[in-house]
Amino acid sequence: MSQPIKLVRIPTLKTVADFRKHVASLAISLPCEDGIVTGSASPLARPIEHATINGKPIGNRWAIQPMEGWDGTTTGGATDDVRRRWQRFGESGAKLIYGGEAMAVRPDGRANPNQLIISEENKRDLAELREILVRAHKERHDNTDDLVIGFQLTHSGRFCKPNDKFRLEPRVACRHPILDRKFNVTSDAQVWTDGEIELLIQDYVRAAKIAADVGADFVDIKHCHGYLLHEFLSAHTRPGKYGGSFENRTRVLREIIEGIRASGNNIEIGVRLSAFDIVPFKPDPALSQPGKLGPGIPEDFSHCLPYRYAFGVNQNKPVEYNLSETFQFAELGAQLVVKILNLSAGSPYYNPHIQRPAAYPPSDGYQPPEDPLVGVARQINVVRSVKEHLSTWWGETPSSPGQTSAPSVRAREDSRPTAPNAAVADPRYSLPVIIGSAYSYLQEYLPHVAQYVVRNGWTDLIGLGRMTLAYPTIIADAVGKGALEKKSICRTFSDCTTAPRNGLISGCYPLDKYYTSKPEFQKLREIKKAVGT
Ligand SMILES: Cc1cc2nc3c(=O)[nH]c(=O)nc-3n(C[C@H](O)[C@H](O)[C@H](O)COP(=O)(O)O)c2cc1C
Ligand code: SF4
Repeated sequence: MSQPIKLVRIPTLKTVADFRKHVASLAISLPCEDGIVTGSASPLARPIEHATINGKPIGNRWAIQPMEGWDGTTTGGATDDVRRRWQRFGESGAKLIYGGEAMAVRPDGRANPNQLIISEENKRDLAELREILVRAHKERHDNTDDLVIGFQLTHSGRFCKPNDKFRLEPRVACRHPILDRKFNVTSDAQVWTDGEIELLIQDYVRAAKIAADVGADFVDIKHCHGYLLHEFLSAHTRPGKYGGSFENRTRVLREIIEGIRASGNNIEIGVRLSAFDIVPFKPDPALSQPGKLGPGIPEDFSHCLPYRYAFGVNQNKPVEYNLSETFQFAELGAQLVVKILNLSAGSPYYNPHIQRPAAYPPSDGYQPPEDPLVGVARQINVVRSVKEHLSTWWGETPSSPGQTSAPSVRAREDSRPTAPNAAVADPRYSLPVIIGSAYSYLQEYLPHVAQYVVRNGWTDLIGLGRMTLAYPTIIADAVGKGALEKKSICRTFSDCTTAPRNGLISGCYPLDKYYTSKPEFQKLREIKKAVGT
């Protein structure tokens, strides 16, 4: 039986020495700098030098991560809530921004009925959102020549709820011995056929064209968190050309990129990848009480070993990760001229402590099974390993890495320099820019750790998710003033996850007054009380 852990709360760690002592007690590798560095001396203020995106440099080292919205219109257009979020992201000072959120490439691929849809019908709204973001950035930070904006393209697969906030309508890459039960997959008819996938690939190609038309600098082909294309990476048991071997499981990505290029669309391409995964977790029933979730424990996986149902997992011991295919995927990305590789992990739906370490669980989660700093360090160290792997591979590859099975990709590569080492100086051709995730739990010590990992090349950019809902200007304050506004720091209350899971709009309810004053605030309190989070 698991025991609930007694968390040492970050705000109780009054000094960097206290923070280091606590990190040491956890026996994890999570280094940090002694203080917050300001101005141009801060590693976070330095532009990216090895790559440009859409001809632009990335002006500093922090990014706003994609975060799905639950507050668009039911036809996938913008509302004032959505506009406000994009404006705040523009004001943040981050020089790489994933628009404001993931956009569904078709209506039935939405994770909720109010998610944005990237369609001809919504083109005007998307263009307006981009303009709001750019204008807000210009007003606060003057220069937009080094601001890079990406749209994340998604199909929610197993987690689709396109028509009703409480009704799952899953479409999956393959059957899953644990998740099918949880997400209402009861029939093989819910598995995509190869023919349906070919049509879906065209939806991605169309979406990328719309993104280019409305001025996005890149599209992110989402491969994370258990959503559809991530699930394809783990489709070992799927027969046919999109399942089984690594080559088959990555075919959808290759065909999307090939399709985008063949259509004459030169938009830059990024991929967000769950770099590793483990089995789903659940609250320990022995330690759960009415109104109190128990600590997380792994679901029983004894009946499904070797575990061939996840990507980046140790198949014989699936509570551990294995990066061998992750490295292979990173190499493939570089070969396909994926210019931005954004690394995340796991899934917020079935192992949230892996994906977004938090002190307080979301309503469909469990109490932390480990100190959340362990989860933060795990992601930081995996990103470091992937980046090191790519650098070594890049340096050792004797000929062009552009040997892919996709002819149009190859054609594009052929016009590029052939030797990777020589090519580094060519801004059109470079190692992908690496973005790391899951920094929000660091709270007061976020700048200290971020400075260290960027200064030492463990990642290129720090990607911020929840913290930017609560405190979008956290890094701008760190770099500009050398101090943070304590009252604005995200404490990982998980309300921004609990609210939408219960049909309410997204946002930082506890800290952003815009939500505190809404009627949804009271509803959320009642929901939280009932589930005991
Ligand atoms: C409300 C919410 C929505 C999210 N939606 C997405 C999404 O649509 N796409 C995505 O790649 N990640 C999504 N994420 C994950 C974040 O991008 C990020 O990886 C995660 O929150 C961990 O980073 P953090 O510690 O800075 O919050 C979402 C996170 C939150 C809190
Ligand atoms: S609701 Fe606000 S404080 Fe809580 S996790 Fe989300 S962003 Fe952070």
